[in-house]
Amino acid sequence: PDLNTIASETSKKIVAMAQEALEKALVAKGGSFSLGFEGTAFFLPLNFALTGLEVKTIGDASQIIENCRRLLEGRSLANGLFFSCLDGLLNHGLAALLAEELLCALTHEPKEGYLGFVPDTVLRSLGVQLVDGRIAGIAVILGCAKDDASAVKIIRGFQEKNIVSLLVGNAGARNIRDQLTDAGVELGLDNYIVPLGPDELSSAYAVNFAVRAALTFGGCKGGQWKQVLEYTQNRVPAFVVVLGKLDEVIVTTGAGVLGLGFPIIMDADAAEVGKIPTTKYEALVVEKDMDRIVSRCIETRGIKIQVTHLPIPVLYSPAFEGERVRKENLKVEFGSKYSSAFEYLAYRSMEEVADGRVEVMGPDIDAVTGKAMPLGIWVDVAARQANKDFEPILERQIHRYLNEAQGVMHMGQRDMIWVRISREAFEKGFRLKHFGTIIHAMLHKEFGAIVDKVQVRLMTRQEDVAQALKAAAGVYEARDERLRGMTDESVDTFYSCALCQSFAPNHICIITPERLGLCGAYSWLDAKAAYEIQPTGGNQPIVKGVCLEPNLGQWRNINEFILEKSNRTIPEVSMYSLLVSPQSSCGCFECIVALVPEANGVMAVNRDYAGMTPLGMTFTQMAGSVGGGIQTPGFIGVGKLYLTSRKFISAEGGLPRLVWMPRDLKEALRNRLVERCRELDLPDFIEKIADETNAQTIEELLEFLKAKAHPALDMPPLL
Ligand code: SF4
Ligand code: NI
Ligand code: NI
Repeated sequence: PDLNTIASETSKKIVAMAQEALEKALVAKGGSFSLGFEGTAFFLPLNFALTGLEVKTIGDASQIIENCRRLLEGRSLANGLFFSCLDGLLNHGLAALLAEELLCALTHEPKEGYLGFVPDTVLRSLGVQLVDGRIAGIAVILGCAKDDASAVKIIRGFQEKNIVSLLVGNAGARNIRDQLTDAGVELGLDNYIVPLGPDELSSAYAVNFAVRAALTFGGCKGGQWKQVLEYTQNRVPAFVVVLGKLDEVIVTTGAGVLGLGFPIIMDADAAEVGKIPTTKYEALVVEKDMDRIVSRCIETRGIKIQVTHLPIPVLYSPAFEGERVRKENLKVEFGSKYSSAFEYLAYRSMEEVADGRVEVMGPDIDAVTGKAMPLGIWVDVAARQANKDFEPILERQIHRYLNEAQGVMHMGQRDMIWVRISREAFEKGFRLKHFGTIIHAMLHKEFGAIVDKVQVRLMTRQEDVAQALKAAAGVYEARDERLRGMTDESVDTFYSCALCQSFAPNHICIITPERLGLCGAYSWLDAKAAYEIQPTGGNQPIVKGVCLEPNLGQWRNINEFILEKSNRTIPEVSMYSLLVSPQSSCGCFECIVALVPEANGVMAVNRDYAGMTPLGMTFTQMAGSVGGGIQTPGFIGVGKLYLTSRKFISAEGGLPRLVWMPRDLKEALRNRLVERCRELDLPDFIEKIADETNAQTIEELLEFLKAKAHPALDMPPLL
């Protein structure tokens, strides 16, 4: 039978299965019983994105069946969703996907070793990495490779090319996750390998993950199916790999995936499909050679890859950036509480630097096992275009550079680093000098414009480390002082950041000395240096010009810039207000600041806080309405440090408005908060900010604030 017949018959079966499961659930639990996935603000995301349906209860879900039936009968949905190409193949596939998502929500239990539904927070962090290029693409891999060695080969190939693999099995059969586990490959998001589920149905998790990018970053609304599909086709660099035997369910689900614009690469013969009219690439590609399948995928989807080959004995790729080196596998560690360690980078004159020289002063790592050693990483760079302002930015790269080596873990910065090298890496021949090799090669590769020469010294004798650290510490301090002393008034230029536009096309961050980028990664000095390093890049200077609203923080030039760069969707932005034309958010904010009308104040919640807030919403639920490059008065996405800025919602009264924040966030900011409170002459204010340990509901919060006489209660009404 041809593809169309298979897809039409199988999708009918899948829809019938979903209907049966739904009827059962209606009887067992009733129509008002709630239905949905943990950790999303988008209901059943695929159904929501494509049809606009907000399924909250089992009763709501009957509309899904109705929608599927319409598609199967060749009729368009209420919002116009319908494909007129390929004789209905895509409509059948889509109906199957919509029903599969419902089936997942109704019947799936969490399975050991599989992630299942991908929560919005994971989506956000992956989104950030897609934006900055740490992730080049997403491979959805279905089935089982022909042997374990092939499975490992494919996965390592994707890891090395910075592609995240989402794994989906075949019900009842061995799958690629089993193969990788047997081969001892470490799985998990940090390793770019995420098993979603053991059966075909779990491909719905991959799909509803992809469409949420359109909702989260693309500013698409539920039901805007054309915009959503345009987004997934053009901005989500995903593709599907089908390994092993094809069955009807895979073929049918695959047809739906094609509808979303993702090509399918498989290692078995398949019918010709040709090009999907809306996409630029072949829809179905057959590649039986396991040595070529990875590159074939990349070509087919048109993913741009930058691979770095370094003369070191371990693999090197962003895929290894998040990898942990565990105690059992530890060769040696440096820093943290185990030994003194630091890293430091500075410009020297051209004569002082011998490019490529790497010097190890003191014993190498051969002698120790499972223990700590002192470490100083001292990097000298030289360039005709040297500039002291670049030093901290270059120094901060060491973290990523070393982490990207397989078997090397690096955390922190400056004199607060913690570095581990695994036994495996050591056995492959990794030694300290390779730190130098990596830093030298990577600085040349990424910062050629401002780095002509690099030399690295690695110290492991305690006396050398202590002495060098003394010199470095003075410089760290001087660097901090510079930004601390700066105010928005003291500069005439702010910087824009458009890095997130590849994901959120209407979003632009404005970065000022007193308000950093909302992802927390770019301060004004960073943006300035980035502009000087790459004048045509994502960070552009904007001369403030005439100030229109000193209190709100609005300038004519800034407004004009935003209007133009937001595709004319945002006419004005207040840098210091939560309520009047606040900044838009792309989706990668560290914190959300939200109005709490009952308390006449605001609360702040950070991404890592998974619990409930007094507004009755989690971070994830709130994040759903803040992102996408739109302004949402009453909500802003911000970088953590902005909370302690003098310009923190100063239009609304500033820090004294803050009534609630998670305890961990408060602890992380404690020193800065204390300093700021002193400045405000509110020395005990920090104790008046509630957290989850003393207020989980609005009622508890109000009680707490009253008992503490929180200043927000006596401030002018916010609304
Ligand atoms: Fe994205 Fe803003 Fe961070 Fe730039 S500063 S990377 S636009 S969040
Ligand atoms: Ni690593
Ligand atoms: Ni962003």
